[in-house]
Amino acid sequence: MDAMAKDGIRLQPRPGGFGCEVWGLDLARGVSEATFRRIERAWFDHSFLIYRDLQMTPAQHVAWTRRFGPLHIMVPTDWNLPEHPEIFVVGNAEREGKPLGLRRAGMGWHSDGEDKRIPNAGSMLYAKEIPPSGGDTLFADMYAAYEALPEALRQRIAGRRGRFSRIDMHQVHYPHLPPLSEADKRARPDVFHPLVRRHPGSGRPALFVGRWTRDVEGMEPEEGRALVEELFAHATQDRFVYRHVWRPRDAVQWDNRCMLHCATGFDEQRSTRLMHRTTLEGVPTS
Ligand code: SIN
Repeated sequence: MDAMAKDGIRLQPRPGGFGCEVWGLDLARGVSEATFRRIERAWFDHSFLIYRDLQMTPAQHVAWTRRFGPLHIMVPTDWNLPEHPEIFVVGNAEREGKPLGLRRAGMGWHSDGEDKRIPNAGSMLYAKEIPPSGGDTLFADMYAAYEALPEALRQRIAGRRGRFSRIDMHQVHYPHLPPLSEADKRARPDVFHPLVRRHPGSGRPALFVGRWTRDVEGMEPEEGRALVEELFAHATQDRFVYRHVWRPRDAVQWDNRCMLHCATGFDEQRSTRLMHRTTLEGVPTS
């Protein structure tokens, strides 16, 4: 456990080192560059941060995340806060009969922006209102998943790129929604990303597959699909997964470059879940 430093912030890695709790961050007081660097290092070392009991206005949320890199604005913009478009609202909360955020966002293992040319580097989700039970978020460690791959499988995917296809997978993941229009398809073309990415901050390789990965460039579609399914089943085994049960005023900042995450359900008729998310811009993968 990290001793409480002079700045009053305690960093407490989770058992096994996947994830680290951050206690005592006071954004209203301002955060020195040295403290910021200590927290950023913990983020790189532990892949995600769980800020406990964090008081944070939307403006502070935007300003704090921006210290980690440029922010991404979610498109379509329908669920972004009008006064802070960098904040994407998730959940079933309503005001005057109108939904405030996107319902059932993030169900299914993915990393943010994996189906875009530039996947997002990270995200920070803040619990504004949580249900009494359910609505947990699962996180999977893609460094550990890569390290645990049998050598033959590592060789097979070395230098390969996956095809991430919103077009092929839309109906698989969203059977209840209308099919994509031709304009939607033009706006969300297939993209290719390396199946193994080296994290720029930690230097470590991580497996990169998610729910939009369809098959593998340069392989017969069937062979590629089978390989993606094998990698996906491997990566989401319980041994790589942490379940975050939200407490009020928790914020979790995850690193999309070395993790997958997955929202889980709750009783939407009886309870409310309202979350604010900022999203960090990434860089092209190839
Ligand atoms: C997301 O995928 O960004 C949302 C996760 C959650 O709401 O638990």
